[in-house]
This record gives sequence, structure tokens and C-alpha cells, in this order.
Amino acid sequence: MAHTGAVTKAVVPVAGLGTRFLPATKATPKVMMPIVDKPAIQYVVEEAAGAGLEDVLLITGDNQESIAEHFSRAYELEKALSAKGNDRALNAVRAPTQLAEVSYVRQDSPRGLGHAVLCAADHVGNEPFAVLLGDDLISADDDLLGRMIAARQRYGGSIIALMEVPADQTSAYGVAAFKPTDDADIVAITDLVEKPETSEAPSNWIVIGRYVCDPAIFSVLRETPPGRGGEIQLTDALRTLAVADRDACADGGGVHGVLFRGRRFDTGNKQDFLRTTVEFACARPDLAADFVPWLREYVSALK
Ligand code: G1P
Repeated sequence: MAHTGAVTKAVVPVAGLGTRFLPATKATPKVMMPIVDKPAIQYVVEEAAGAGLEDVLLITGDNQESIAEHFSRAYELEKALSAKGNDRALNAVRAPTQLAEVSYVRQDSPRGLGHAVLCAADHVGNEPFAVLLGDDLISADDDLLGRMIAARQRYGGSIIALMEVPADQTSAYGVAAFKPTDDADIVAITDLVEKPETSEAPSNWIVIGRYVCDPAIFSVLRETPPGRGGEIQLTDALRTLAVADRDACADGGGVHGVLFRGRRFDTGNKQDFLRTTVEFACARPDLAADFVPWLREYVSALK
């Protein structure tokens, strides 16, 4: 059966406190930290828009006005750049305002990712929608979101993205158990565990920060008690949908996983943030000619 309800909306939770990056995140939201010359959140909104999702709802917390400013026009700055004839800078200033229709809803208290997604219920209504986590950047070479939307159209229900990692890394993520489908890159989810002990992980395949959720997730989230870390976990709500479908005892649609073998950049911790910055700089034609030879020299001189 084809599930034709189009996915048009993206939900991006950005309310995180950014504790690992203090003091940089004292007055600046974590997702506004630049990777080279764009804030991380802009890459995420670009990805959503690139997959045809032009209605982007950001779930915000305290002190996050600068995010809304980034996606709004800056008339004085534009006037000044225009007077100087600096078209390159002018385009850079306008680009984030032209990507998508960005709107905001406030998450009053940080009660977890599941709670953040629940804050989108009124805006989303009864449609499937995507969730993109701002800490995960996905290489533009892989149309992961497009593949997930196609999987939703084929299988219905909710779709998660899975990536294989070494066993000693699973405890930092949601981890999936699954069985194959007729599609080589799509699996049927039979169980999900949020941040299991390494010995209890059901596989080496972790949930990465891209989801396409059936709207049935909202009623499940309302009933989902706090889980790992005392927070309402999206993983737990998806598990409820997956298990109910597996045991054929409810009709919220099951959960399928799209296997991702491309590049994922984590910007949620300092080591990965630094690596991402260097990799993105090396991939930029306007910077690489100078930066890469310097980097080689710098590294070879390191003790
Ligand atoms: C969240 C999810 C987790 C997922 C991860 C991907 O965790 O709860 O299931 O594996 O994102 O980045 P967080 O990193 O917010 O703790």
C-alpha cells in the first residue's frame, strides 16, 4: 500500500543548553556556533529545504533570539553592503532568509527530545513530519532525508536512520534491533533502546538525528513516561510504535530504518566539532587551496 500523505514539515529541536561548550554557549545558542562561516543550524535548514521541506519549525528555549534573527532580513546590514557594492556578502546575509518558512515554538522546560517533539503537535497537525537534530550534520552527498521520505511513502508509519558504529560507541545513542525487508537498505524495527549499557545493546546500529514520524507519535509521546536521564525520550515513543506493530496490537504504523553509510558529522562535543570544522574547511574550494597545504605542514610539524 502506498502512503501518499506528503511530508512537508520539518521540526528541529534547538533548545539544548550546550553545556559542553560553555562559556561559548553562555549567551549564544549552541546551534549558532559556526562551522567555518555558517552557524550549524543553517546547514540543517538547508538540508530540510533541499529535501523539499520548506516549512521548518524550530523548538527553542531560553535566550535564543539570535536564531530568529539569523533567519530574518537584516535591512540595515543589507543597505550598508549594498551601498558598498559587496554582492557576495549581501547574498550571504540574504541566503538564510530564502531557504524556508521558519517558525518557532517555545519549549518552556527542557524535558527531553520527546517533549521537544511534542511541542510541535499543534503546528504539525495530522501529517507525517521530519525531525532533524541540530547536532548531527549529514553530508550533502547523501540524500538521506529524501530516502527516508520515500521509505515513508512505501511503508507508512515512522522512519528512523541507522548507522553502524563500533560496539563501544553504542551506549551514547539510541540502538535498534531489526529484521530485513525486501529493500537492501531498509529494515523493519523490532526494538529500540535509548543509550543501553554496551553489553545490552541489541546491535551495532545506532539511531542518528534524522526521523520521519507518523503523527501517531504525538499521542504516544503524551503517554511516554520519563526514561533515560529522567527525560521523555523520542526513542521510547518510537519503540512503543515499533513493538505495537510487531505484536499487531495497535495501528500507529510500524517503524522502519533506513541504513545510512554516508558521512555524519557530530557537532555535539568538542572533539567532533573540531574535526567537523577542519573537514568542512578542507572541502571548501574557496578555502582549501590555502588551508590544506598549511594543515599538512602544521600536522607534520606536530610532535
Ligand atoms: C539523541 C537521541 C538518540 C540518538 C542521538 C543521535 O540523543 O535521543 O537516540 O541516537 O540523538 O545524535 P542525544 O545526542 O540528544 O543525547
